[in-house]
Amino acid sequence: MNNKNPLILIVDDNIKNLQVLGTLLMEENYEVSIAGNGKEAILEVMNNPPDLILMDVTMPVMNGFEAVKRLKENTATMDIPVLFITAMNEEADEEKGFLLGAEDYITKPVRAPIVKARVKLHLALNNQKRLLEQQVNKRTEELYKLNRELEDTRLEIIRRLGRASEYRDNETGNHIIRMSKVSRIIAVGSGLSDGECDLILNASPMHDIGKIGIPDNILLKPGKLNPEEWEIMKTHVTQGAEILQGHNSRLLKTAVEIALTHHEKWDGSGYPNGLKGGNIPLSGRISAVADVFDALTSVRPYKKAWSVEKAVELLKNERGRHFQPGLVDIFLSALPSILEISSQYLDR
Ligand SMILES: [Fe+2]
Ligand SMILES: [Fe+2]
Repeated sequence: MNNKNPLILIVDDNIKNLQVLGTLLMEENYEVSIAGNGKEAILEVMNNPPDLILMDVTMPVMNGFEAVKRLKENTATMDIPVLFITAMNEEADEEKGFLLGAEDYITKPVRAPIVKARVKLHLALNNQKRLLEQQVNKRTEELYKLNRELEDTRLEIIRRLGRASEYRDNETGNHIIRMSKVSRIIAVGSGLSDGECDLILNASPMHDIGKIGIPDNILLKPGKLNPEEWEIMKTHVTQGAEILQGHNSRLLKTAVEIALTHHEKWDGSGYPNGLKGGNIPLSGRISAVADVFDALTSVRPYKKAWSVEKAVELLKNERGRHFQPGLVDIFLSALPSILEISSQYLDR
């Protein structure tokens, strides 16, 4: 509230009542405005919003109940406290007044001390309410800000965790950035919602987190793995899921899904569970395409980088075998933006 004296709008069709109420309020140093019926009151409120309204009930043109109903329906005027002042003192009327949202009810004939006390009380209450609202809004804004910071931190930690798992077999860790961004592109092409696409973007960096549990002599072996070593290598998917599971957030649940299923194949020949077709979660099917393409076109301890043409050829050959056919199509039609990402995050 500003420092001016509070403005009270008195609404009454009886000039004598207006005079009596006006005088006693001015004695208390309130500013006073007047209206002769409900319709005039609404106009007056719009032109010069008061801090409080004293409202008669029975008036011509528009009665007090109707005027209050309209004022309380309007978000611009609903917070102005209204006190009915009326000769009607049956309980039913009081009830109606309160139901309409009036703050209080004073019966005629008015007694000056009562009117003064109620007006003072309701101005103070409303002032408190406004202060509280301001504080709540401020705190809410602060909470939103904190929440955004927490969310940013969480995503950053997840990205770094994903990178950490890649550092061991990939010097720059850029594989997971490219792979997750490409996963998002395929997710967008699949018609997923923005939220789902972001989940895949943010969860896929952790797909190989289970490699943390794979011994160096296997993970970094320059040559081909023997069958025993290969079995150990394959456990990175279950180890990853174990590391990530047990938390209820959608992000971590998606991360578990991707960690566990990014080596499943559309024809059922993948691992760890040999899931087939639509039984493989979509997030796993999507990240498989992005992961394989990026792995093929990157240098690894056991191989050189393939050309884009050769990698694309493999994706086409594996369409319907390793990969869901539709996802390969989406990948191929998005190839220009995918190559753009590859060029932005080059391995050193
Ligand atoms: Fe993997
Ligand atoms: Fe990968």
